[in-house]
Amino acid sequence: MAILVCGGAGYIGSHTVARLLEKGKEVIVFDNLQKGHREAVPENVKLCVGDLRDKDALDKVFSENKIEAIIDFAADSLVGESVTEPLKYYNNNMYGTMCLLEKMKEHGVKYIVFSSTAATYGEPESIPIVETDRTMPTNPYGETKLSVEKMLKWSDNAYGIKYTALRYFNAAGAHIDGHIGEDHSPESHLIPIILEVALGKREKIFIFGNDYPTEDGTCVRDYIHVTDLADAHILALERLQNGGESAVFNLGNGKGFSVKEVIEVARKVTGRTITVEEAERRAGDPAVLIASSEKAVKELGWKPEYNSLERIIESAWKWHVNNPDGFDK
Ligand code: UFG
Repeated sequence: MAILVCGGAGYIGSHTVARLLEKGKEVIVFDNLQKGHREAVPENVKLCVGDLRDKDALDKVFSENKIEAIIDFAADSLVGESVTEPLKYYNNNMYGTMCLLEKMKEHGVKYIVFSSTAATYGEPESIPIVETDRTMPTNPYGETKLSVEKMLKWSDNAYGIKYTALRYFNAAGAHIDGHIGEDHSPESHLIPIILEVALGKREKIFIFGNDYPTEDGTCVRDYIHVTDLADAHILALERLQNGGESAVFNLGNGKGFSVKEVIEVARKVTGRTITVEEAERRAGDPAVLIASSEKAVKELGWKPEYNSLERIIESAWKWHVNNPDGFDK
């Protein structure tokens, strides 16, 4: 019996595949390779190149393999793009997961761990954010993820498909041995951009906004190591397979760092010059996003290992130094 990892060639997906293999699990990756990288999938793992919206491709995977459960990362995830191209997000993120659920129902697969996001909350009412807080997304990316959470709830109700939705805060870092890491094109995330400046691939980093109501005026985020995220998926799946009820969990470190603090830590870790320029606010950025992950700690037995920003950036730096051009060597 294998675990089907949809979007397993992407950033968080490939790190989860690595952890599943380290734990001796059988894994099959399903990925359309639009954002994912073939090189991020180990050679001994079966890679099915396909799109969730292609029901024939899904039928083929489900009928040719014995699938015990799904971990689903396959989605578009750029907040800014989702505002200018909302229908792309409804199509890929919502319709794609709908096709997957239809096929799970037809083929009798009962468990799914779903990649959700802090963007389901929108502007937080209070910090730290707990799972029962108001969900009022401020962009179509968060909206489509929240809509899928609801689709999962009703699918459990009607068909008994058990799900866990994991709401990630800011995923960062790379596998500790440096063989896989973050490689987006275009890159929009803070830490990889800072490290590209440290590497000399970019001239400077623009700090988006210095007048937020935070200590130094820059946005505060909760950075969580990608391997800690990966481990939470495995714990979530085991919990479902042991009879646990469907649930939603936040995943973060519970500590916030401002953009300026992240840059300072990156200067220390890399020993390189990192030139900054203060720029206008980026549309849609909440001032502070920090998770309470107490529920995941208590109910999943999750213990984030990389709970210092230094260690997170060190692991990302190792990947960047060894792979300055990402997977396209
Ligand atoms: N930032 C800069 N300069 C840059 C890039 C980012 O100042 O060049 C700032 C952003 O304005 C933000 C912080 O750095 O304040 C972090 O930005 P990221 O783009 O790295 O991450 P976000 O917090 O915007 O987004 C993350 C996930 C999304 C998720 C969102 C939830 O990447 O998928 O959290 O709000 F939707």
